[in-house]
Amino acid sequence: MSVTVKIGVIGAGVLGSALARLLAARGYPVVAVSSRRLERAETLAVAVGAEAHRLPHEVAVRADLTLLTLPDDQIGPVAAEVARDPSYEVVFKTPHYFFRKVA
Ligand SMILES: NC(=O)c1ccc[n+]([C@@H]2O[C@H](COP(=O)([O-])OP(=O)(O)OC[C@H]3O[C@@H](n4cnc5c(N)ncnc54)[C@H](OP(=O)(O)O)[C@@H]3O)[C@@H](O)[C@H]2O)c1
Repeated sequence: MSVTVKIGVIGAGVLGSALARLLAARGYPVVAVSSRRLERAETLAVAVGAEAHRLPHEVAVRADLTLLTLPDDQIGPVAAEVARDPSYEVVFKTPHYFFRKVA
C-alpha cells in the first residue's frame, strides 16, 4: 500500500527552496509553502506546483508533514505558533521541528 504524504514548507529561503524543489522533483506533493514576504513564497510555489502563503499555519493546515526551514531564532516561536493547534504534534527534531497532522 502506498501512502501519499502532502508536504508543506514554512520558510522559502535557501534550505526551504532546495528541499521543496528536490522533493517535488522526486514526485512528492509539495502542497504549500510560506514566507512573510509573499513574493518569495510565490516564486517557490510556482516552481514546485504548490500554493503560496504568508502565514505559517496556512501551510500546516494543508499539509500532512510540515518542514520548518527558518532562521534558527525563528524556529521556536513559529513552531509554538503552529503547535497551538492541537491537531499537530512535533514528530521529529534535528535542530529543527517537523509537524505531522494527527487529526
Ligand atoms: N543555507 C544553508 O546552506 C543551510 C544549511 C544547513 C542548514 N541550514 C539551516 O536552515 C535554516 C534556514 O536557513 P536558510 O539559509 O534557508 O535561511 P534563509 O535563506 O534566510 O530563509 C529563511 C526563510 O524563512 C522565512 N522566515 C523568516 N522568519 C520567518 C517567520 N517568523 N515566519 C515565517 N517565515 C519566516 C524567510 O522569509 P521572510 O523573511 O520573507 O519570512 C525565508 O523565506 C537555518 O536554521 C539554517 O541554520 C541552512
